[in-house]
Formats: sequence, structure tokens, C-alpha cells
Amino acid sequence: MPQEREPNPALSDPDRPIGYGRVQRKEDPRFIRGRGRYLDDIVLPGMLHGAILRSPVAHARLVSVDTTEALAHPKVRAVVTGKDLEGLNLAWAPTLSADVQAVLATDKVRFQGQEVAFVVADDRYAARDALELIDVEYEDLPPVVDARRALDPGAPVIRDDKEGQTDNHVFDWEAGDAAATDAVFARADVVVSEEVVYPRVHPAPMETCGAIADYEPVEGRLTLYETSQAPHAHRTLFAMVAGIPEHKIRVISPDIGGGFGNKVGIYPGYILAVVGSIVTGRPVKWVEDRSENLMSTSFARDYIMRGEVAATREGKILAVRTTVLADHGAFNATAQPTKYPAGFFSIFTGSYDLEAAHCSVTGVYTNKAPGGVAYACSFRVTEAVYLVERMVDVLAAELAMDPAELRLKNFIRPEQFPYRNKTGWEYDSGDYEPAMRMAMDRIGYADLRREQAERRDRGELMGIGVSFFTETVGAGPRKHMDIVGLGMADGAEVRVHPTGKAVVRLSVQTQGQGHETTFAQILAEELGIPPEDIDVVHGDTDNTPFGLGTYGSRSTPVSGGAVALAARKVKDKARLIAAAMLETRPEDLEWEKGRWFVAGDPTVGKTIAEIALGAHGTVALPEGVDGNLDAEVTYDPPNLTFPFGAYICVVDVDPGTGKVHVRRFVAVDDCGTRINPMIVEGQIHGGLADGVGMALMEFIGFDEQGNCLGGSFMDYLIPTAVEVPDWETGYTVTPSPHHPIGAKGIGESATVGSPPAVVNAVVDALAPFGIRHMDMPCTPARVWAAMQGRPTPP
Ligand code: CDP
Repeated sequence: MPQEREPNPALSDPDRPIGYGRVQRKEDPRFIRGRGRYLDDIVLPGMLHGAILRSPVAHARLVSVDTTEALAHPKVRAVVTGKDLEGLNLAWAPTLSADVQAVLATDKVRFQGQEVAFVVADDRYAARDALELIDVEYEDLPPVVDARRALDPGAPVIRDDKEGQTDNHVFDWEAGDAAATDAVFARADVVVSEEVVYPRVHPAPMETCGAIADYEPVEGRLTLYETSQAPHAHRTLFAMVAGIPEHKIRVISPDIGGGFGNKVGIYPGYILAVVGSIVTGRPVKWVEDRSENLMSTSFARDYIMRGEVAATREGKILAVRTTVLADHGAFNATAQPTKYPAGFFSIFTGSYDLEAAHCSVTGVYTNKAPGGVAYACSFRVTEAVYLVERMVDVLAAELAMDPAELRLKNFIRPEQFPYRNKTGWEYDSGDYEPAMRMAMDRIGYADLRREQAERRDRGELMGIGVSFFTETVGAGPRKHMDIVGLGMADGAEVRVHPTGKAVVRLSVQTQGQGHETTFAQILAEELGIPPEDIDVVHGDTDNTPFGLGTYGSRSTPVSGGAVALAARKVKDKARLIAAAMLETRPEDLEWEKGRWFVAGDPTVGKTIAEIALGAHGTVALPEGVDGNLDAEVTYDPPNLTFPFGAYICVVDVDPGTGKVHVRRFVAVDDCGTRINPMIVEGQIHGGLADGVGMALMEFIGFDEQGNCLGGSFMDYLIPTAVEVPDWETGYTVTPSPHHPIGAKGIGESATVGSPPAVVNAVVDALAPFGIRHMDMPCTPARVWAAMQGRPTPP
């Protein structure tokens, strides 16, 4: 499986970072001085503003939409309804999961916040005011809010727009071997079982979603500024849906204020901005507000999971089995590779050497916003890791074993890598025990357990939560995966200018992760050009190679590989040109960083800058070598990468209020070769805060009518510096054997690994009450109710 390639210098010294290591972020001077250029900073001449009228109810037949008064508003330039879009064949758009989603409702509304009409006006305020002048008549229908009731006989059919759809079923999918797993369960000494819910949460990026469409009718060109994590994929899909030829569409993603999966999909607002621009002949900007973002623009998770583990009495885990009910909302708009309707959930086998495993997932429609996006995770890995790590703790409680020791006993051993898990994934590399031991040493695990025992004697509630995760990131090999038919490779283009400065153009799109720094570092490592002499260009389809964009921590595994290989092509070409310049044979030259020199006489050589000038100058070039120092690569990774980590969290629970205080958190991560350790740590800090948020406070709930209860930051709580501890981080380095520089993704590891650590800590604190499981978020009200043995409040 691993590709043949030259030895990687980073692999010979895995602990060495890449290209000057911990360098300051090149993008920060503009961000910290307020000179970033986000979508809402862009003002085009003659630009109009759009606003969306949204449904106040979760399920209703649309009787009529009267726009007369809105159109009469002096500042309104256009009002678009579903009926208008039907005429253009644009009322429904394909989703990333082969479903369709209403751009504007035509027949029914199917969730609260669904798009019903679009107003284009001279300014944002007028557009918003005019929404109130639209008169919509709804005929209420009973909503389906609880996914568990969605498949009941007689449940209202939400998607009656789909021919042949007679219930709310979306898909069934399974992985692993059911019969083999059942057989292991039948002979196991111990079986534990628990219902584990990963509630509906939201990526909630600091910047909400938006678009500016500028359609030029004479040449038929569309320039679309978008908050998009995947500009190239968006351009292709726009060409397919809107019928505008792809070469006449330019998608520009400016600076993006956080994506976390929220900016992968194409939302109705983007399409409506385009329609608005075509209709008015002027640029149209649409930017959603916070409530629109939380209520309608892609949720994450919403998995109801039944987990079962079979083990021996001595604590050898034999098999894991799970059935999942996946709430996909009103339209199946999840983003994941086509072949995997439940994403990479099949990594629920975790970091353990199992005899058998099986999962089955059923997706259902409900009257809630669509989404199921990979919120800071690789396509449902977060749900999988949470399930298995919670269940291992349930098993530890059943066996009265220490949860850290139980994990150590069951890890896949280093000599078993590459390891094929029981659902068919090949884990590329791993060495789990040192990471776990490091986390335990850092936190002082044995001392903490002693302290906990003493505190318990005094009636105090202290919990220690352990989690160990393996992620699968870097989607993905073309032979295994695509998104709506587009193979998941990514391109990189390297150009060395005549003066030896360089530009690298990427298909992936940073949203704050620091790509302008780290991708320059990869090139610096390979060619010896300092990072400050390298410009990183991304986010403009006219100026970058094709690729599927940034999500699922795929930038480093895929585009990072592309940059390294393109740089190596440049280096090979530089050798030929240097040989011509030095009047020697290429094979007589040796490489040191940034320079080819004559073997045996290191004083005679040519630097990359000299070679670049030679290539563009008057040097007589060898036959077949053209006059530049450029290269382009589309990288199809041979496998995914499998970063891992050991997390331990210490909490104190107030017995009077149920409030959880996170006292300490140690995170030991392994993402293979680390390019920039400072950026890696930043990614981990952010992800850990995310995890604490989901474990303790983030949650989008609904009442019985389908009213969204998490539509503002007053209700949807995200953690601040007050709720999180000082993170204590450590690392091990187990390079990926197939990645050109041995790097694995890191962006999402902490979001994936931390929720189980926090919840395991809370449940551990509550062990004196006989509690083995509680569902996230562990809010004070829920913890207090659990202590009283009362049902979980919403
Ligand atoms: O796809 P995304 O950029 O969100 O995730 P990633 O590939 O994990 O990278 C996140 C950031 O961490 C980028 O700036 C990477 O270049 C950097 N990184 C690193 O320095 N070393 C690694 N082994 C992995 C990522």
C-alpha cells in the first residue's frame, strides 16, 4: 500500500519539526491589526443586500406567499419566492449526500428557520424591514421532532416531495461482521450495554456564513465571494446546478473566521445571492445573523447510539457492537464521502485489538434543520470515538477495573501496525502505550486516584476521566472515496521566481489554521527557501489548482503531501539545470538544503536562487527541460492517516448545585511529524475548548412543536476562558509511513478526543451515586438531577 518514494529526512529524526519549526504565523500581522479581509468587509460598486424570510414553524403546508407589499417598499429591488425559482428550475438543489434540499420552500416548510422568500434591497436594513411585509399563509402539520418516533407507523411523512417516499427513512448502513460479532458476544464472560446520545451541536464559527454574487450578464461571468471551506468543489457544483459554464465561474474565499465544518456545504443563501444578482444585474451580498446560523446553517452530530462491549472477566475486550439512529433533519445534507452514509463512524472500534465488531446505522428525517456536518471531525469520527470511549469506561465500572489500566491492556500493539481493524480500515501507524503512560505521568495519575479516595471519604465529588482516541483523517484515496462523484485528491503548484522567491498555490482553504505559514514551511524544508520568501495562495479558483478543500483535518495529509511532492519535482529539475550550469552530470551532484553541489567538492555548487535565475535566464538548458522552476502535483493519498492521543481530565462537581469545574486537562497527541509545533498546540487548545463546551454546555434542543431552543448565544452556550483550565499538553511522534513528510492531521484531534475525557470524569465523580452513564451536555441541572435519581431535564 505505501508508495515508493525517496527517504524522508523528517522520518530519520521524527522529533524534528519541519522548515524552521516553531515560526510565528505569517498571517497574524494582518489579523491582529484588523487588516484581515472577511466577506462582510467586501463592498462592490452598486452592491445590493439580501435577506431571507424564514419559516416560524417546523412543519406546515405553504398555502400562499404574498410579496406585493414588500415589492412596493421604495428600497426593495426584488423579491424571490419558491414559485419564482421553480420557473428557473432552481427551487431544489442537490445536497452533498445525493438528496435534494429546498432553496426556497414551494410546497411545505420542513423545519423552523427554513428559507421561504428572499428580498434584495438597497441596504441590509431595508431588506430586513421588507421581510415583515411578506404575507405567508401556513397550514400547520404535525411535526416529527423525536428521531425515535420518526419511523413509527403513521408518523407524518416529511419528505412527501420525493417520489416513492412513504416514511421518514433515509438510509440503512452497516460495517463489520454481524454474525462473527454475535458469536463473540454469545461466548463472552461479560457484556455491557448502554444508550449513548451525542446531542445536536453546532460548529458556531465566529464569522457566520455569507456570499456576494456578482453576475456579469454580457460575458455571462459569475464572481462569487463565499465563506467556503471548499471553493473548487463549490464552483463545480454551481456549474452543475446553475448551468453557468465552470470556466465562467470564479469562487473567491477571502479570510474566513472559522469554519469547523460549517462552511463546507452550499447553503440556500449562496444560491439566492446568485439569483438576486442575475435578477437585478447588480452584485448582491447576503450575510446571515447569529440566529440564522445556529438555527438553519448545518448542525452536527445528533446520533442516538446503543453501544455494547463483550469482554473476558480479566478485562480483555473481545468485540464491540452498536446500532445507531441518526437524526438527519429535514434534508439529508450531511457532508461525507459518497460510499459512507455514516461517514467514518466505522472507526468505533477505537484503539483496541478486537476479535469482531459490527455497527448498523439508520438515518431518519425529522422536522429539524439539515446538516450532520463534520464539525471539527472527520465525518462522524467524533461520534464513534465518544461511543467507544464511553463504553470502555462502562466496562471498567462493571469489572471494577481502573479505566486507564483497562485501556493499556487492550491497545493495538506497535508491532501490529499497519493494523486492519474489524471494519476494514488500515491504521497506518501507532504506538499507543507511550502516549498513555506520558499522559498518566504528566497528570500524576496514581496520586490523583489516592486524592480522589480521600475526598470521597469526605463526601467530595472529584472525577478523573480518561480517553484514548484514534482518528482517521486525510480523506482520501480516490479508489476509496469521493464527494458527489469528485475524487478526494488535492493539487499544489510551486513556482520559484527568477530571484529565488517562491509561490505555492493550494486547493485547500485555511479558516484560521495557519496554512500560509505551515505550507510555506513544507516548501522551506524541501527547497531551503526561507518561509518568509514564500507566498501561499489559496481561496481563489482562478489562481489555484483544483481540489476538494479543507475539512476533516485533510489539508496536511492531502495538500501537505502535494506540496512536498511538487517541491521534490522542482528539486529534481533544479538538479538538471544545476548540472548544465556547472557543466557536470546530474548524478555527480549532491543536495544540501537549498543547494546542489558537486560531490567531492562542496565549494562548487548552485543555490536554488541561482538555479532559478539560470532557468529563467540564458543558461543552455538540457534537452527536454523548459525554462522555469515550476511544478504541479495532484496528490492522491495512498491511505488515510491515523493520529491518536491520550487525554486525562480532572473535574470537581459541586454536590449542592451539580456544577462541574474542570480542574486539569492533560492532552498527549501524536500527529506524526509536526510541521509547526506552536500551530499544532494552538489547534489542540482550540479543540479541547470545543470538547469541554460540548461535554458541559453546548446543545441545540427542540420543544414538542419543533421550535429550536438553541438559536442564540444566550441559549447555545460556548465556553469562554473562564470555563476552561490551563491546558497541559505533551506529544509523541509516530510518523505516517505513507505521507511524504510523515505528517498526520491534527486540526480536529482534540475536539474528537476530549468530550469522552470530560464526560468520563463527570461520571467518575458521580460513581458514589451508582451512576455509570449520563448524556452530554453535563449541565448543572442534569448533573444535579442525576444525583437525585431524577429524569434528565432538557
Ligand atoms: O485541514 P486542516 O488544516 O483543518 O487540518 P490539519 O491538516 O490538521 O492542519 C491544521 C494546522 O496544523 C495546519 O496549519 C497544519 O499545517 C498544522 N499541522 C502541523 O503543523 N503539523 C501536523 N502534523 C499537522 C498539522
